[in-house]
Amino acid sequence: MQNFNYMTPTRLIFGKDCIAQLPEVMAQFGKKVLLTYGGGSIKKIGLYDKVKTLLSDFEIIELSGIQPNPKYDPSVLDGVRLCKEHNVDVILAVGGGSVLDCSKAIATGAKYDGDPWDLISYKAKATASIPIVDIITLAATGSEYDCGGVISRTETNDKIGYMDPLNFPAVSFLDPTYTFTVSKKHTAAGCADAMNHIMEQYFCEDSTLLNDGFMETGLKSLMVQTKKCLENPEDYTARAEMMLTCTYGCNGIFSLGNSPSGWPCHGMEHALSAYYDITHGEGLAIITPHWMKHILSEKTVDRFVKYGVNVFSIDENLDKFAIAEKAIQATYDFFQSIGIPMTLREVGIDESRIDEMAHHVAVNEGLENAWAPLLEKDIAAIFTASL
Ligand code: NZQ
Ligand code: ZN
Repeated sequence: MQNFNYMTPTRLIFGKDCIAQLPEVMAQFGKKVLLTYGGGSIKKIGLYDKVKTLLSDFEIIELSGIQPNPKYDPSVLDGVRLCKEHNVDVILAVGGGSVLDCSKAIATGAKYDGDPWDLISYKAKATASIPIVDIITLAATGSEYDCGGVISRTETNDKIGYMDPLNFPAVSFLDPTYTFTVSKKHTAAGCADAMNHIMEQYFCEDSTLLNDGFMETGLKSLMVQTKKCLENPEDYTARAEMMLTCTYGCNGIFSLGNSPSGWPCHGMEHALSAYYDITHGEGLAIITPHWMKHILSEKTVDRFVKYGVNVFSIDENLDKFAIAEKAIQATYDFFQSIGIPMTLREVGIDESRIDEMAHHVAVNEGLENAWAPLLEKDIAAIFTASL
């Protein structure tokens, strides 16, 4: 087991109607609130009005229109400007992972004198941030329980995972009923994203029985509950378990003491989303089985055997490569069964920019150091196989 140094300072408040506690929670941070949200889903589900009513004693400044794959310009820059102009005390992020991620970049950017991109691109280190409270409305990213935010800069095709412990949300509200309206597309994409977060931690050199058990169960939980959510979007029990499994997925708790994996599928998917603005979870689901096939070798096969036997109940008496291949096929079949388009062409990506994207990934994502190292030619081959 590897050494680690771990802390998640976020308070989770979970369950139906839990946002009744919002005024009391917000009051500890101050009265001037930047309310951030996306393209309007929170208005359709009545959450916007509810928040405004609950916070009628607060001064609320709004930043709306934060897009999926949140953009540095205008959203982060507008948020930073509003925080500075109004001397905001606390940010309340209401929405999916994109709203939360954007709010994190705003939180540190607002306490920094220079260009906020310096922080996101790790040219400078933040020394302070505005506290963040969030109400997450889409189960997927785990942004409600981690210190990461993924920000896109359109003109340079950059999509950067910006992590800073200052950006852990102070408090996250998780009410599964607010996820009842998430579309089938985003429910499935959210499942694929969270499953991939677990796989990115599972496929590594050094793990423990304890962590493997957490992660194998996490994957099974996501597969079972997502199917139920798709069948009945208002199944509270299924939405609740899916939400909590997603929350655990991305803050490292599943892999304490494991050796690093390099998060290769996320490294590659960042380029797909940056160049083509596709849905993150769909990009992951498309490339994951091809990444698995590409890295399957004598060195990696035992991990796939464990995954296949424990997650998909494949017969452990088969040849080890046969188990691995069945496990990869089962992964593909599951994603397809929940309605995810399983080729890059179906999400609008053709071969024309594969070499450019592979180069971008090779230069920026450090995947030559992944558990199964990937060079530029490997990345291009995985993208090509995913077409
Ligand atoms: O913009 P609105 O109108 O709110 O609509 C959103 C958006 O169109 C909609 N939506 C959200 N909640 C809803 C809802 N529709 C109906 N009912 C609701 N309750 O869903 C659409 C997608 O929202 P988005 O926030 O983009 O999805 P998600 O939560 O999957 O976030 C994706 C972003 O998170 C990043 C991804 O790269 C991507 O940019 N990630 C963040 C991570 C993190 N912070 O740790 C880790 C992940 O690996 C991921 O990279
Ligand atoms: Zn992800």
